[in-house]
Amino acid sequence: MTLTLSVVGCGYLGVTHAACMSSLGFTVVGVDIDPEKVALLQAGKLPFYEPGLDTLLEQELKTGRLSFTTDFSLVKDADIHFVCVGTPQVTDGLAADLTYVKSAVATIAPYLKDGSLVVGKSTVPVGTAQALRDELAKIAPQADLAWNPEFLREGFAVEDTLTPNRLVVGVANDRAEEILKEVYEPVIALGTPWIRADLPTSELVKVAANSFLATKISFINAMAEVCEAAGGDVTVLAKAIGYDPRIGNRFLQAGIGFGGGCLPKDVRAFMARAEELGAMQALEFLREIDAINLRARQRVIDIVRKVLSEDLTQYKIAVLGATFKPDSDDVRDSPALDISVQLHAAGAEVVIHDPQGIEPARKRFPNLKYSEVIEDAIKDADLILHLTEWKEYRQIDPAGISSLVKGKIIIDGRNMLDRTLWRSAGWKFHALGRTD
Ligand code: UGA
Repeated sequence: MTLTLSVVGCGYLGVTHAACMSSLGFTVVGVDIDPEKVALLQAGKLPFYEPGLDTLLEQELKTGRLSFTTDFSLVKDADIHFVCVGTPQVTDGLAADLTYVKSAVATIAPYLKDGSLVVGKSTVPVGTAQALRDELAKIAPQADLAWNPEFLREGFAVEDTLTPNRLVVGVANDRAEEILKEVYEPVIALGTPWIRADLPTSELVKVAANSFLATKISFINAMAEVCEAAGGDVTVLAKAIGYDPRIGNRFLQAGIGFGGGCLPKDVRAFMARAEELGAMQALEFLREIDAINLRARQRVIDIVRKVLSEDLTQYKIAVLGATFKPDSDDVRDSPALDISVQLHAAGAEVVIHDPQGIEPARKRFPNLKYSEVIEDAIKDADLILHLTEWKEYRQIDPAGISSLVKGKIIIDGRNMLDRTLWRSAGWKFHALGRTD
């Protein structure tokens, strides 16, 4: 008999998981407390931008296997319940806010059928899964709980769900593992490594992975600072060390650093949890990882002041990019937006362009100026900042736009533009970690 699944929380992770599980042949009901979001999903529309997911959503809704609702009682037929709600940073500290996870489990508890399995996918501080399992044993002893961390990247969400580079399950017994093996059978059949762990290890795998990625980025950004001081070039340095397979060349792109809804808050929540556990010394280095990351934003502003003036009030700055990375409309903790806000606060006229992120950015910062058209954004600008590496920006012809701007100065905050091309068109070209 085919399993029936519920997905609790229809954000980025939840919608992707629901649509992908439906595409594997399962009947899936997605539940969320937000009626607007659910109405959009029912109509086959995504509340966010994710390449490929819109088509998959439409396709799966048509099969009749996938549905969305605000009625939590409709999870009652499901054998497995994937909890995919957010765990944002608390407003008054570094820790993760567990309100949504706790409330999701408590809300579905009365509808859990005999032998069903609740599977947490949200990123949580170590110890959360065990605490939730203990709670469930009291309020819904007929059900069990496991953890199955998610490693999907925005922009590659479907691919990362259907062909992940590993599956990690945190279980307290063989039965929970068997159920999860049944769900992921088609993915396992592709040769995907399967890792069984205990509950705390499965939670730690996720935050350890994100902390490692953050460390790699901050490492190369620290090297960028040293290159600037010593007259070196971080892009050459990254390429050279990346050929060593023990180091690898991925996630060594120096620039304005990491942002988004995951890396920054996961690093901070990990520190907060380690402190609670009395293991803070082990993670002290993450404080520096966070500091290097935030410093990269400041370094761009320092270059702007150096090439324009300490007083920015007379200048127009065009910003290319608002999202935290390309192929996403996510502006959460976006370095590009943070820099824009700071320049605006310093008195500069800032106009931001982004292929997908203007509306989400405008919602957060309605006082900033936005433009849907690159040419309009850069018109009469004294300086251009390239802050999110959308493909469109690499296709700009520097010679072609020269007559539009007031000052032919560009700062590449992502080290992705062709410096020779820009310079040969008469532009002053600056980048992080490159002195020449
Ligand atoms: C990250 C992880 O990569 C996923 O594996 C994880 O599942 C996800 O968080 C999560 O916890 O849900 P994501 O937030 O989509 O995924 O973004 P990344 O692709 O990791 O990029 C994060 C940030 O690092 C971006 O702002 C990007 O511009 C920056 N970055 C990345 C660099 O500055 N340099 C690099 O070399 C790579």
